Amino acid sequence: MAELAPLDETITLDALDRDPFPIYRRLRAEAPVCRVKAAGRTLLTKAADTKYVKDNPQLFSSDDPNTPMKRAFWSHTLMRKDGAEHLRERMAMAPAFAPRVIRDDWVPQYQKVAEDYVSRLPRGEMVDLFPALSGPYCARGLAILLGIEDASDADMQRWSQALIDGAGNFGWRDEPFARADRANEEMHALFDKIQDRHKAAPNNSAFSVMLNAAEPIPEKQIYANIKIAIGGGINEPRDALNTIVVGLLSNPDQLAEVKRNADWDKAFEEGVRWVAPISASSRLVTEDTEIRGCFVPKGDTVMTIQASANRDEEVMEDGEIFNVYREKILHQSFGNGPHFCQGTHVARRAVAQVMLPLLFDRFPNMTLPDPDAVIWRGFGFRGPIQLPVLLN
Ligand code: HEM
Repeated sequence: MAELAPLDETITLDALDRDPFPIYRRLRAEAPVCRVKAAGRTLLTKAADTKYVKDNPQLFSSDDPNTPMKRAFWSHTLMRKDGAEHLRERMAMAPAFAPRVIRDDWVPQYQKVAEDYVSRLPRGEMVDLFPALSGPYCARGLAILLGIEDASDADMQRWSQALIDGAGNFGWRDEPFARADRANEEMHALFDKIQDRHKAAPNNSAFSVMLNAAEPIPEKQIYANIKIAIGGGINEPRDALNTIVVGLLSNPDQLAEVKRNADWDKAFEEGVRWVAPISASSRLVTEDTEIRGCFVPKGDTVMTIQASANRDEEVMEDGEIFNVYREKILHQSFGNGPHFCQGTHVARRAVAQVMLPLLFDRFPNMTLPDPDAVIWRGFGFRGPIQLPVLLN
């Protein structure tokens, strides 16, 4: 019988939040399967292992009853379901993400919002791009795509953060749940209010297609899955956008080349590879098993660290460096297997094809005067939380 994975009692959640990459590098070299006491989970830091786990949902279930997610969302969302039940709910939302709908409905709307929000930015001033642009832009686009335009940008961002904080409240403290409860109340009130309108005038938004389907899923699940999209559809494109702006402004040669060739798609892929917006995902082990020669018992929770997989020396040379023009950009930032990100193509369009070219066109001489003023945070989700740029 193989032995349990090594136990690490030195890594802290705070260190993972501040700068996890040196820790991941050490784990990949010394203990690629490692029980990290502070996280209460077995961390997997090699690309082959993170992919293996996500591609094998029978052995590694998304349905982990021990997480605070159900409590925070007032429901069991599609992200935490398996098999046929998961597929049915995912398919219910799928028409809103169809390529034709993205092209004809969402891209033109994202373009309008982008024009509007970029035109409001001041010129010749220092601006923190997070609250001034990337947060509101991603909130507005998502509100339109989901069919909940009545929600303000501030509501969307507050709800999203409350759901994320609630779902990550592993200490089961009262305050984050109270905040998530308030957000749930507000979201449900809005969903109740707009139902009739969507029934009278159906459109391609996620809420509308689920509500008006020939055989709709239960209302509780429609609400649950709009909430998972709110919790998971703002911060990732926002963090991706911020990350790519930092990457490009810190590497003027690459920026010049990207502009020359309009290589925004490449810049996007490299940005999400370099710093994965969703850095880690949890799966519940359903049977005693082995990973990389370590015994992993039934009931254990493994954490796939895609942020580390993206820099794994076995698949990526100089993975710590942002390089749009590396030989091949490989990453697992949108996940693998049945839960592969449903918003992948929307995010690519909204960030790479709409916002980045527009922003660098309107502010061709934008700079990052003090790179040290960029503050990065996050273990589960990661991106710059402060991004002061000089807009010119
Ligand atoms: C750069 C942007 C984004 C990144 C990096 C990202 C990343 C991810 C990842 C890694 C997962 C899988 C989680 C797991 O395996 O447990 C996921 C799932 C999901 N994402 Fe995204 N996401 C992004 C943007 C979006 C957007 C804009 C939307 C909505 C419009 C969205 C909607 C979803 C949904 C609904 C799921 C759950 C799919 C399922 O469980 O079947 N994502 N995302």
